[in-house]
Amino acid sequence: MRKEKTMADLAAIVLAAGKGTRMKSSRVKVMHELCGRPMVDFAVRAAREAGAGRLVLVTGHQSESVRDYFAADGHITCALQEEQLGTGHAVACGLPLLAGFGGDVLILCGDAPLVQGETLRQLAAEHRRSGAAVTVLTALVDDPTGYGRVLRRDDGTVARIVEEKDASPEERAVGEINSGIYCVAADFLREAVAGLGNDNAQGEYYLTDIIAAAVSSGRACRPLTVRDAEEIAGINDRLQLAAAAAVMRRRINGAHMLAGVTIVDPATTYIDAGVVIGADSVIQPNSHIRGASTIGSGCVIGPSAVVDSCTLHDGVTVKAGSVLAESVVHHHAAIGPMAHLRPGTELHPHVKIGNFVETKKAVMGEGSKASHLTYLGDAVIGADVNIGCGTITCNYDGKRKHRTVIEDGAFIGSDVQLVAPVTVGKNALVAAGTTVTKNVPADSLAIARTPQVNKEGWVKKKSE
Ligand code: UD1
Ligand code: CA
Repeated sequence: MRKEKTMADLAAIVLAAGKGTRMKSSRVKVMHELCGRPMVDFAVRAAREAGAGRLVLVTGHQSESVRDYFAADGHITCALQEEQLGTGHAVACGLPLLAGFGGDVLILCGDAPLVQGETLRQLAAEHRRSGAAVTVLTALVDDPTGYGRVLRRDDGTVARIVEEKDASPEERAVGEINSGIYCVAADFLREAVAGLGNDNAQGEYYLTDIIAAAVSSGRACRPLTVRDAEEIAGINDRLQLAAAAAVMRRRINGAHMLAGVTIVDPATTYIDAGVVIGADSVIQPNSHIRGASTIGSGCVIGPSAVVDSCTLHDGVTVKAGSVLAESVVHHHAAIGPMAHLRPGTELHPHVKIGNFVETKKAVMGEGSKASHLTYLGDAVIGADVNIGCGTITCNYDGKRKHRTVIEDGAFIGSDVQLVAPVTVGKNALVAAGTTVTKNVPADSLAIARTPQVNKEGWVKKKSE
């Protein structure tokens, strides 16, 4: 009886060793980002979604940077391809890490980030259903430039794949392209890769040649054609990177909208992969939500806001032109317009941060307000505190940073400098224009300014 293949029988090899010459970059191609993640990460995630239990990443150029990125992932092992002798050679470098594995192997390109887990799952299912030696993902396109062309046999199976540089004019006219994504029986793959040569226009060991090898040994290669060609787009240059990023953005924004988020203008809204947004939040145009950000329900973000690696709870408003990084904002706090929350800021419920206010490592208690033109750094501020316009925490003495503490209910007048370390006690009042250099006891008034003198008629006399 034939044993049903399970997920454990599926492994994946992701090819990521190439330099990516056409990117014209000092950074290896597969580490270029779209929607906040290196392109290779999308291929890896898709393979995992499809059920690949073991994942081999073939690295070469800047292998350190690729390995470092995945270092925390215990399911990925890396194989080094020291010299990039072609996609077939790359697979040969990865296969020893699957020694003894007898299932099917998904092969993916690290430069094809748009393929979806569900499509790979279908590829593996189709491969198993048909019993072919190789199943290749293909697409029909108007402009096949740059891709390998899929040449079919009369029965619809694939005869071989020819690279553009090796193709005759008739072959180049074929509109069916190779995705570079395959499902192959591991045993056949080992045997076929070992037999590859490099007698071609680029002098490389082409993985694509395993197909002709299958056919000549009496086995079949079957195509699985994707409905939407954009899913298999490979990225070789920055034009293609921008095009792929646009597709990814459309997908991400689409998923948020279907989950109940209003995106006023999806074409100008940039949300990184993995960002979480609650229902009934509204994202205004030209806003960027980046990194590991989580946004609650009923929030309003933008226009033109940047939220990077922040947690925003329900009902938070981030008004136009505000920039937030590595901060936590509790429910119903309001920020901006044009405010800047720097790392380590935590705003408790109903806090108000107004225009041209900058915070850094600052905690503000419930209901506190800093409505205008203020810098709060290394500050611990209690509840119901009012920070007047133009207040500055002088936290840096040129060598070290010091802390300012403002306790519950204190009132800081306009244009106050708080020279840290310093504490303003509960319900204390600091008069406008005061430079606070000593602690202010609870319930007291601190005032430090020269008494005003009016010299009557002075201006008139001077001009005479
Ligand atoms: C490859 C396919 C082509 C297909 C296209 C789809 C071959 C010979 N050609 O061409 O049929 O239409 O992908 O996008 O397979 N890599 C290595 N080591 C190497 C060479 C490449 O790891 O020695 C990696 C690259 O990092 C990249 C992937 O393999 O992620 C594809 O390599 P690339 O040089 O971009 O192949 P294409 O010319 O696009
Ligand atoms: Ca490519």
